[in-house]
Amino acid sequence: MSVTRLIIDTDPGVDDAIAILLALNSPELNVVAITAVAGNSPLSDTARNARRLVDLAGRADVVVAAGCAEPIGKTEYASGEVHGNDGLGDLEWDEPTTQLDPRHGVEVLRDLLLEAPTTIVAIGPLTNLAVLAQRYPEVIDHVEQLVVMGGASFEGNVTPAAEFNIWFDPEAAAIVFAQSWPITLMPLDLTHQAFLTDEDLATFRALGTEVGRRCADMLEPYATFHERWYNNRNVIMHDAMAVYELLRPDAIVKQGVVVHVETEGQHGRGATFIDRGFHYADSTVQVGVRVNNDEFRTLLHQRIANYN
Ligand code: RIB
Ligand code: CA
Repeated sequence: MSVTRLIIDTDPGVDDAIAILLALNSPELNVVAITAVAGNSPLSDTARNARRLVDLAGRADVVVAAGCAEPIGKTEYASGEVHGNDGLGDLEWDEPTTQLDPRHGVEVLRDLLLEAPTTIVAIGPLTNLAVLAQRYPEVIDHVEQLVVMGGASFEGNVTPAAEFNIWFDPEAAAIVFAQSWPITLMPLDLTHQAFLTDEDLATFRALGTEVGRRCADMLEPYATFHERWYNNRNVIMHDAMAVYELLRPDAIVKQGVVVHVETEGQHGRGATFIDRGFHYADSTVQVGVRVNNDEFRTLLHQRIANYN
């Protein structure tokens, strides 16, 4: 099996947490670092939550660093409504033992990319990656693949036009999509096909492990949020789709596209216009189109159950 050297750029975030725990217990991946960014919660929360998750996974070998605290563009801040006031469902946690790397997250991205070609999974706002591309363009061709959860082909989830990760920092997203690195995009119309139910949460809890219990406890308030917003308790696994793409590259049906990010407009700011013209079939930007949720859930349960 070939092992993918990976950096996860993230704003944990309950669905980020599931994606991270999946990645940290998958032999196909060598996660060398997690870089935090402001998004679901302020950077102080997302960086601490990344430390918590690395502790929970027993992966003291993984570098954790704090990246950008502010988006490149202007934004409003997310409420605690979606992921809780601490960003992880407001559970009780001990102080994490994993310490933050003293370097800024963007410096960690640069240093690791200069060491060896690396894949990046970006499951929060794209601020860190935009600053990396602007400050260190020489590392762009060291990125083997950039898998992004973000955008929407049809309807957003913060405004009718914009999905959260893009909405939070549209200027950063525009910079990221203007670079030459190969991008695989998982937009909302793909991620909404992947979800967990109360049955999955009960299966996690029945494992009798700390990881299983924490997954169930984090997902419970997130399911309640989904019930209020979407009138069902299907918990959408947005960020895990970016990791799943690396674990089973043939599982998600994809097509070549060109992506335009709207940074202006009273109503359209943060929109992603995904052009699926047949002449883009060989584009360096691919978009996820279809996924089998049962196959994804089976793999997720196997990897979460493998934590002891
Ligand atoms: O729109 C979904 C994205 O926004 C996910 O990354 C979720 O964690 C939130 O950050
Ligand atoms: Ca996220």
